[in-house]
Amino acid sequence: MFKTSIRTIGVMTSGGDAPGMNPAIRAVVRTALSNGIRVIGIEDGYEGMLNGRFREMGPRDVGGILQRGGTILRTARSMEFKTPEGQRKAIRQLSSAGIEAVVIIGGDGSLTGGLKLQEQGVPVIGIPGSIDNDIYGTDMCIGVDTALNTIVDAIDKLRDTASSHNRAFLVETMGRDCGYLAVQAGIICGAEMTIIPEYETPFEEVAEAVEDAYKRGKSHCIIVVAEGAKMNANELAAKLQEMNVGFDTRVTVLGHVQRGGKPTAFDRFLATRFGVKAVEFLLSGQTGVMTALTGRDITPLPLATVVNNRRTLSEEYIKMARILAR
Ligand code: F6P
Repeated sequence: MFKTSIRTIGVMTSGGDAPGMNPAIRAVVRTALSNGIRVIGIEDGYEGMLNGRFREMGPRDVGGILQRGGTILRTARSMEFKTPEGQRKAIRQLSSAGIEAVVIIGGDGSLTGGLKLQEQGVPVIGIPGSIDNDIYGTDMCIGVDTALNTIVDAIDKLRDTASSHNRAFLVETMGRDCGYLAVQAGIICGAEMTIIPEYETPFEEVAEAVEDAYKRGKSHCIIVVAEGAKMNANELAAKLQEMNVGFDTRVTVLGHVQRGGKPTAFDRFLATRFGVKAVEFLLSGQTGVMTALTGRDITPLPLATVVNNRRTLSEEYIKMARILAR
């Protein structure tokens, strides 16, 4: 079916884990095997590549993992791979294991590493996996939907207790540099306010919103704060408490809970489609690209375009979050 001379590929997960990485690994392994391509699993991301932590993967090795969060290949953040010597060492390891191309499932930093390999002669296909949804060129990354569902579940529960005690809750979502999760959560959880890294929100505005909610007789006030926001949830809560804005305030940092759990149906299907397409792109000679969800289609987008551009948040959704918070 496909034209390729590649006989052996590697597959790895890298950077922060994301629910859905396992279904992606499964799809890569089974699609490759069904095309007569051998698959080697690279453990612990670039750390494992540098240190030759490789293992052969057969169809049974990826059985029973569709519903599992995390990544069976484990993951890591490697400083050594960022250096030219580290990259040369990794390439030597790949070559001695007979790995001719690599599928890399991960976020922005992992795809930047993938581009380095591609530029030095190792064919690479990237698959976007990050709960932050901060990767340029794809509508969605693996793990975003599951993380959002975790956030929704948590905020719904927090609202119950907030209403019972007439309290304001500052809920911190993940997203080091990107407010995607916070904005979406703000809309779908009916938050009174959403604070994100992309915009400066003066404290006075926050205090006003909380006080206003109290005066209008709301039984609770939910403020979603993205991790990377200029003022963090604890600082905001302390200042609000000091000002006596009506509600008593509490903080919940959702943290790494958002990265775990079994992938949703959406994430399993997206990850599976990405995995199948990654192998198809590789076998048809389209390398140095990322599988990107564009509308309903999965298209190949050059890694250089992906890593040299910043994804921006939808102004429409930010506006929506503001309007509906009234
Ligand atoms: O990039 C994904 C992410 O979960 C960010 O939202 C968060 O800032 C970061 O990873 C946390 O990294 P670590 O798991 O290394 O603490």
